[in-house]
Amino acid sequence: MEKRQELYAGKAKSVHATDDPDLLVLTFRDDTSAFDGERMESLARKGMVNNTFNAFIMEKLQAAGIPTHFEKRLSGTESLVKKLEMIPVECVVRNIAAGGLVKRLGVEEGKTLSPPTFELFLKDDAKHDPMINESLAETFGWATPEQLDEMKALTFRVNEVLKALFEAGGLLLVDYKLEFGLFKGQIVLGDEFSPDGCRLWDAKTREKLDKDRFRQGLGGVIEAYEEVGRRIGVHFD
Ligand code: C5P
Repeated sequence: MEKRQELYAGKAKSVHATDDPDLLVLTFRDDTSAFDGERMESLARKGMVNNTFNAFIMEKLQAAGIPTHFEKRLSGTESLVKKLEMIPVECVVRNIAAGGLVKRLGVEEGKTLSPPTFELFLKDDAKHDPMINESLAETFGWATPEQLDEMKALTFRVNEVLKALFEAGGLLLVDYKLEFGLFKGQIVLGDEFSPDGCRLWDAKTREKLDKDRFRQGLGGVIEAYEEVGRRIGVHFD
């Protein structure tokens, strides 16, 4: 497999073509962004930590029967993935109130959400990823009702697998965002799962161990990501 030209550079990852038209190389960079890219910083080791973390989670999900784009980790910061036709809709599940939900509805941070909530957002930084719904997604052609049903079902299956995994490490999976795409017509989990795209709290102290440490200027960002990884059995280089 040969890594070829860069196709796209996102805020934290770059995407390269390979000699196989069905496969891409994802490179996890140290770049860290918040507030739709308004704040950017480079955090040493972040690329390696997130690539390794993501590989571990994607393998767990794959083993649980959830189709993912992940093929294999290629190096400290690179992974080989299937080339998906991405669906520009972000799926968010919340088990505990935090972040955007607290801001939007004024509910108390830390409140257990039963049943967990499911929200859709349009992936569009320029528009600040506005909240959308099934009707808007269908009308504007972002996803079909069938695709949305499948994405919702898969997002909740991920919740069952990962809630248990993190719970065993003394961690609460507060909320997370997933992105999906199509591979040969099938809905497949894409993007990444790392502490950049979810909230994880220590189950006893409720200490924040995710990207909120960066958003809120709490420091110890990568140390927290490594701590979370260590507790669920991730081995970093
Ligand atoms: O900001 P909000 O509370 O809506 O985010 C919910 C979850 O989705 C958080 O875990 C956050 O890190 C993640 N998210 C993300 N990328 C976005 C929006 C939210 O990873 N563009």
